[in-house]
Amino acid sequence: MAEERSLEELAAEAERLREQIRHHNYRYYVLDSPEISDAEYDALMRRLEALERAHPEVATPDSPTQRVGAAPAEKFGVVQHRRPMLSLSNALSADEMVEFDKRIKRLLRSEADIEYVAEIKLDGLAVELVYEHGVFTIGSTRGDGYNGEDVTQNLRTIRSIPLKLRGSSGHPVPELLEVRGEVILPRKDFQKLNEARAAAGEPVFANPRNAAAGSLRQLDPKITAQRPLDIFCHSPGEIRGAEFKTQWDFLQGIKALGLKINPESRLCRSVDAVLEYWNEISAKRDRLPYEADGVVAKVNSFALQNQLGEVSRSPRWAIAYKFKAQQAETKVEKIEVYVGRIGSLTPVAHLQPVQLAGVTISNASLHNLDEIRRKDVREGDTVLLERAGDVIPYVVRVTKPGHPRHPEFQMPRNCPVCGSEIVHEEGEVLYFCVNVNCPARMRESIRHFASKNCLDIDGLGDKLVAQLVEKGLIRELGDIYTLRVEDLAKLERMGEKSARNVIASINRSRHTTLDRLINGLGIRHVGEHTARQLAQHFRDIRKLQEASEEDLLAVRDIGPEVARSIREYFGEPHNARALKRLLENGRFEFEPIAEPSGRGPLRDKTVVLTGSLKQWTRSEAEQKVLAAGARVSSSVSRKTDLVVAGEDAGSKLRKAREYGVRIIDEDELRRMLSGT
Ligand code: IVH
Repeated sequence: MAEERSLEELAAEAERLREQIRHHNYRYYVLDSPEISDAEYDALMRRLEALERAHPEVATPDSPTQRVGAAPAEKFGVVQHRRPMLSLSNALSADEMVEFDKRIKRLLRSEADIEYVAEIKLDGLAVELVYEHGVFTIGSTRGDGYNGEDVTQNLRTIRSIPLKLRGSSGHPVPELLEVRGEVILPRKDFQKLNEARAAAGEPVFANPRNAAAGSLRQLDPKITAQRPLDIFCHSPGEIRGAEFKTQWDFLQGIKALGLKINPESRLCRSVDAVLEYWNEISAKRDRLPYEADGVVAKVNSFALQNQLGEVSRSPRWAIAYKFKAQQAETKVEKIEVYVGRIGSLTPVAHLQPVQLAGVTISNASLHNLDEIRRKDVREGDTVLLERAGDVIPYVVRVTKPGHPRHPEFQMPRNCPVCGSEIVHEEGEVLYFCVNVNCPARMRESIRHFASKNCLDIDGLGDKLVAQLVEKGLIRELGDIYTLRVEDLAKLERMGEKSARNVIASINRSRHTTLDRLINGLGIRHVGEHTARQLAQHFRDIRKLQEASEEDLLAVRDIGPEVARSIREYFGEPHNARALKRLLENGRFEFEPIAEPSGRGPLRDKTVVLTGSLKQWTRSEAEQKVLAAGARVSSSVSRKTDLVVAGEDAGSKLRKAREYGVRIIDEDELRRMLSGT
């Protein structure tokens, strides 16, 4: 029996839990030195969630449980910055830095060394966070410097942004604190995000900065929550009720208040120390976990900053000393086109191998014909390559035209792989091979079909696929399921045993789920998530195949572009035939996708079960969750509302935490199901 507790007691306990969680967030995100394990942290979160749910009157908007609450917005509101967000002037050489230092001394009529704070100039997105009496109230983008967009709900999903500041005797919470910072997407996460997007046939982001900006400017905070954004705070806006005398003080002060600052920042006694800092950071820029484009030097004293003032929207007291672009020159040996999974042609420059930022580069995508024309790149030309961090190198411009010069590059009229016609719609950038059977497309399609999130056919790797397509053993997806051990055994680097293994995995993949199959078809714009929505909605591939654009638009999260793409896919007679054969040969046994009941305490929620449960089998639990109106999903995504974590929950739990999805335990689930 639960003991009776007064509302005050409950509220006090909730506040205690919130304080503990904030403390551990601070240890983890700001100090990078956690005191408890992830499991202990989760337990605290779960207790708080349970308490706040059972007694909503004790919940507060600044609670750490309230990161991803808001519904998608129609558009962003406008936020006027109390003080304009300025930009920085640049220095491109050490001489210019010395000039900058001299100018400051001249303006201040001083011969003494100027103290600077040197910081990394992060290549992210500038934002402003407003804390009123310690509570995070408004977050905005820089915009034009005077007015930005209100991205408060999205910024709330960033774990390293405290929803509430921590006060201490040395650093009491100020009445108003505005801080500016840089939102970034770490390189490794950028890469992962792009891989996932590529696999889903979605356009990839050109660089982490664009990815961070795109993620922060999502109208649906749930999508932002799924992107592992981070922040480093670096500058003051308006502040009331606290006084900082220097930039260094300010940084230490906001750190004490719970905000994340860059640990690489350094107090420098003179411009020479700044130059030394630049050399150090410049030498390790490739190894930084995020992209940086230079070093910012700021006069440390705020009094001197005020004296110096600003000109044309840049402060006189700060400067960005840019890193040298990582560049190399090399010759274009050949321009070839590659055919992708959806048949689009990408021209690629094959280069004389050259070293750039620590890696050997031997080709660079030229993206599309418009791009080639704009730069007028031709075979035999010498080009300048540039590489920004993890991003694939790109051709900046031609530095030395070939002699004699090659004619302009032309898109082939016929597919370089299968010889079919190449089509190009007026006004569109892309060119496509019309042949849905094109071996190049086939290779890519099969790779996708066999990949982890699709049919998960172990052993059907790139090399094998290439051979199978080349030898004509696979001409369409359905051929995968008629392969025999003998067919495989005679291929290069395939013994009888490996052949058997591959066939066994192929056979295993016949037992699957409809969403995996839909994902595996490689329909443009249909990735894992959309495939799941489609599977849940139509429950039968034939129904999906017959669905009109209107029917498709009725599916959750599906918009006009996706609906059109699905219609186009199934409307293509060749695809219809290929799918028919795939289904005949595949003889798939689909695990039933149980039906959400449409009502109940979990109505419209998407739930993921993970780990082993004590009181129910997995399928019992699924049935119950469905009966309560929820959808059950097998993997955690941005759309997941709840993760039920049993014993030994592993990667899904981690993912849920990463995405900011609410995590509950089995007992909590039982309470939710009973509606209490
Ligand atoms: S200070 C007036 N510090 O660079 C000084 N800016 O061109 C305002 N940036 O929009 C900025 N890292 O987004 C400062 N450590 C850093 C920075 C930084 C990146 C960005 C910032 C600003 C732009 C200025």
